[in-house]
Amino acid sequence: MSKEIERLSDPGLPDHVHRKADVDPRAAKKAERQVAILFSLSVIGTLLFVGSYLWIPATTFLFLPAMGSTNAQQLFLGLGLTLATLFIGLGAIHWAKTLMPDNEVIAERHEFRSEEKDRQDFVDTVKTQAAAAGLGRRPLIKRTLGIALGLVSASPLLLLRDLGPLPKKSLEQTSWEKGTRLVTDPGNLPIKASDLEVGAVAQVLPELKSNQERTLNNLAKDAVLLIRIRPEEFELSPERLSWTHEGIIAFSKICTHMGCAVALYEQQTKHLLCPCHQSKFDVPRAAKVIFGPAARPLPQLAITVDSDGYLIAQKPFSEPVGPSFWERSS
Ligand code: FES
Repeated sequence: MSKEIERLSDPGLPDHVHRKADVDPRAAKKAERQVAILFSLSVIGTLLFVGSYLWIPATTFLFLPAMGSTNAQQLFLGLGLTLATLFIGLGAIHWAKTLMPDNEVIAERHEFRSEEKDRQDFVDTVKTQAAAAGLGRRPLIKRTLGIALGLVSASPLLLLRDLGPLPKKSLEQTSWEKGTRLVTDPGNLPIKASDLEVGAVAQVLPELKSNQERTLNNLAKDAVLLIRIRPEEFELSPERLSWTHEGIIAFSKICTHMGCAVALYEQQTKHLLCPCHQSKFDVPRAAKVIFGPAARPLPQLAITVDSDGYLIAQKPFSEPVGPSFWERSS
């Protein structure tokens, strides 16, 4: 609750100093005139604004030393609007400072803490009611109530299901399987080793089965980069070398840092570059990270060719593609 008082009437406060206009009617009249003049100047500003719009042709230019050639209409429109709003503001401030009520207000606040007696009353009431409900004498009710309350509070956790599948499943699985053909993206055409020259790079996707369709989710995870270098340039373990075909090596296109598309291939240095935070991967060394924040190489897809000479996957990715996450061991 608050109480308004005239400060003068409160003996505990220093005397209020009245403004001149509060005690002298002539000063008040003068202040009133000053406010009126300020508001009138605002009207002049508005007239300037309207007049500039109506009577100054939009193609008139003035030369001002500080601004050079300037559109006269826009200049006076801006000037008029500035004066109009400025003098309204000045008038309002002068009015408030000289003529508006000059009462000082004390807002009294209660203590936030309840009085000791009220607090004790509350505790007594809770105890009395708990005793009346017989919770102490009826442990069965007490226990079942506890279980019911616990379960009802935990039930919103069910809604977490709506966030989608757990990352482990969705990130560890791509559409690549043993024998899946690599098809161009865009174009959706199977690709042969001879289609790629040394130094070339191509983005490919897994060929869809008749009952499959490409979803955005799969598109993001399945994208693979094919790069062809000279076979003797590889510095790979025998196993990883067996995952390549005639100098063609395939990596997931999803950066292992935060999942951007690794899109740039420097043919001279044989580096793949992620544009997001500049991680660099060395292609001849199984996309080993040589710069930037990525913590692990791009996953390599084992490839070979089928009986028709088309490039196919030897098997699914042997590790999850994309950024590291809490369920990964590496
Ligand atoms: S997402 Fe590739 S470096 Fe950050």
